[in-house]
Amino acid sequence: MILLLGATGYLGRAFAAELRKRKITFTPLTRRAVDYTRFDVLFNYLHTLKPDFVINAAGYPGHPNIDDCETARTEAVQANTLLPQTLARVCYLTKTPWGHISSGCIYSGARIANHRGLHVERDLNLPETRQLFDLHPEKFRGFTEKDEPNCSFRSPPCSFYSGTKALAEESLRWAEQCYIWRPRILFDEFNHPRNYLTKIQQYPKVLDGINSFSHRGDFVHACLQLWERRAPFGAYNIINPGSATARQIVAAVQRNLRTDRKYEFWASADEFYRQAGRAPRNHNLLDPSKLLSTGIKMRGLREALEDSLKKWGPAPQDSEWLDNPLGVAANKPLNAEG
Ligand SMILES: NC(=O)c1ccc[n+]([C@@H]2O[C@H](COP(=O)([O-])OP(=O)(O)OC[C@H]3O[C@@H](n4cnc5c(N)ncnc54)[C@H](OP(=O)(O)O)[C@@H]3O)[C@@H](O)[C@H]2O)c1
Repeated sequence: MILLLGATGYLGRAFAAELRKRKITFTPLTRRAVDYTRFDVLFNYLHTLKPDFVINAAGYPGHPNIDDCETARTEAVQANTLLPQTLARVCYLTKTPWGHISSGCIYSGARIANHRGLHVERDLNLPETRQLFDLHPEKFRGFTEKDEPNCSFRSPPCSFYSGTKALAEESLRWAEQCYIWRPRILFDEFNHPRNYLTKIQQYPKVLDGINSFSHRGDFVHACLQLWERRAPFGAYNIINPGSATARQIVAAVQRNLRTDRKYEFWASADEFYRQAGRAPRNHNLLDPSKLLSTGIKMRGLREALEDSLKKWGPAPQDSEWLDNPLGVAANKPLNAEG
């Protein structure tokens, strides 16, 4: 049986849907039923339930975006840094393997090939870097799991959100039976305020930038595959191979959804920060080679994007248990039929 923390969230729901699809027995947990952020409660819960695996899909990414974490600092630290530490201790004591959703936002920029090898460029919005990307995208490489996070409290500037996520990863380095799953910007075919394809259609002005992306369903599928295949524990960048600029995504939206809307773009990142954004935004590339080397397949970014836009539609209705999370009995795992 799998225990799913943060089951009511954007990623938690995707895990629940995938587990149901695979007919894997799981217990979706919400703080409203069991306050799993408390060490004693969580320890007793795991000690009694004895799950085979725990998925930590709980966290505080900010609502509606990471700017919120600049003020809701207590929530961000508690959910993004302290909860994973508590869970790590409980999983260590109960010998339970687990997976934690981190984020690719602990990096800024990319590694770029030049005649001397690879160098890190933190700012992908520099005009000369953008020009190079347009001419030679093949020279741009993502950060690997071996690269130290360069967008963290130790390596500022960073958003408060990125800082809390990097701090969590740092404190999990000793955790032996733990997967650290790193998604980048999330999208899929379901119109939802957390989906980047929805967001980009709603921004009054779009901030351009080069990024890696993760299809939500592909991400969840890969996370579960790592566990099912008993791949070595540790950090994994889980993205759809490839990269795209916001302008390319807008073009794909226009092409596939045939909207008449004329999109406006911020003239520069400076203008965006002066007039709209508070927290520094990450533009970065991640390298998924480690994930792919396990044999797990990820669709290329272009294919996943086009497919999502072709299937574009409303998000599915929540299951009954999500409408009534208090009805999730603490010791009654739901089976695949829920
Ligand atoms: N969304 C993204 O674009 C994105 C991208 C990269 C990484 N991530 C990471 O993925 C994880 C899940 O993100 P998400 O987008 O699914 O978030 P979400 O929709 O806000 O859901 C997160 C869930 O965490 C639980 N939670 C536990 N402690 C909390 C606290 N102190 N404050 C608020 N909620 C708390 C809540 O569930 P209950 O209250 O029901 O228990 C909530 O439903 C986070 O760690 C986030 O950093 C998200």
